[in-house]
Amino acid sequence: MERIAEIKSAMESESVTDFASLEAFRIKYLGTKGLVKAVMGEMKNVPNDQKKEAGLLLNELKIFADAYFEKIGEGLGNDSGSSSDLQDLSLPGENLPLGTRHPISLIQQKIIRIFEKIGFSVAEGPEVEDDWHNFSALNLPEDHPARDMQDTFYISKNPDWLLRTHTSSVQIREMQKGKLPLRIICPGRVYRNETISARAHCFFHQVEGLYIAENVSFADLKQTLHYFVKEMFGDSVGVRLRPSYFPFTEPSAEMDISCLICKGSGCNVCKHSGWVEILGCGMVHPKVLENCGIDSNKYTGFAFGMGVERITMLTYQVKDLRLFSENDVRFLNQFTSIQ
Ligand code: PHE
Repeated sequence: MERIAEIKSAMESESVTDFASLEAFRIKYLGTKGLVKAVMGEMKNVPNDQKKEAGLLLNELKIFADAYFEKIGEGLGNDSGSSSDLQDLSLPGENLPLGTRHPISLIQQKIIRIFEKIGFSVAEGPEVEDDWHNFSALNLPEDHPARDMQDTFYISKNPDWLLRTHTSSVQIREMQKGKLPLRIICPGRVYRNETISARAHCFFHQVEGLYIAENVSFADLKQTLHYFVKEMFGDSVGVRLRPSYFPFTEPSAEMDISCLICKGSGCNVCKHSGWVEILGCGMVHPKVLENCGIDSNKYTGFAFGMGVERITMLTYQVKDLRLFSENDVRFLNQFTSIQ
């Protein structure tokens, strides 16, 4: 019983000045190997006639120790210099920076939405393609000089495999499925072995489109692209088609819009012509239809393909395409919404 009194006064004479000494206090008195537990263990040695009194005292000691520990702990939290260990739960939380969508994704989404409004749906395909889907089926047999128009990355393990140079390969895959009429757009990343500069990269993004049905004409193509340009760039932009050549379309054309930067008066971006090329297009070549098992006497179609980087550069007036893949957040976080 003297032991109980001793422990109590020892507790009161402890100097607890910080959280480390508070923890030491807890271990010394209240821990599983602490003094309070130890003195409880001695109960079995107390003579029977004193057990009742000792039990009461012990209980008091336990209650006192718990309350005393709480009291000195509170004192530390309130007025000691080490309150930084405690958390003030009413403080505002830490702000975690949220990323923004990449400008290429923003513009790609905008292009997709414009075509979805007139009934096109999205089709996707593999980035590693075989030669047939990327070239041969598109009327580009081996040794065809037009293959040089797209400098290709081949996969050395299997020379029949390559990184697709355009998403026209997805159009072939969709035509082969045989469900007509077909009205699709094919967004995705494509690869070409080009020297990297402000205007070219070894990979970029495309949205290509394809419409196949009975009686589709060049007038439908013009009308569709005209609608696209007005939705994308506004009513005041000028549009023109120039005859061109692609092996998979006949006739073929390229479409220019009036330069958004100088408004047609001439600048570096439009090379002082007032016009900027934005896409290639044409009527699907009958051979391409036949290669995919489509009767070219019954069906006709148009196709077009545009580079998303070019359209993003024009929309946001970005002059160097390398910025899109450098991952510099100072550049990227300027694009938070579609213009
Ligand atoms: N596939 C062509 C390219 O990547 C673009 C294109 C698509 C041209 C459809 C005409 C018709 O260069």
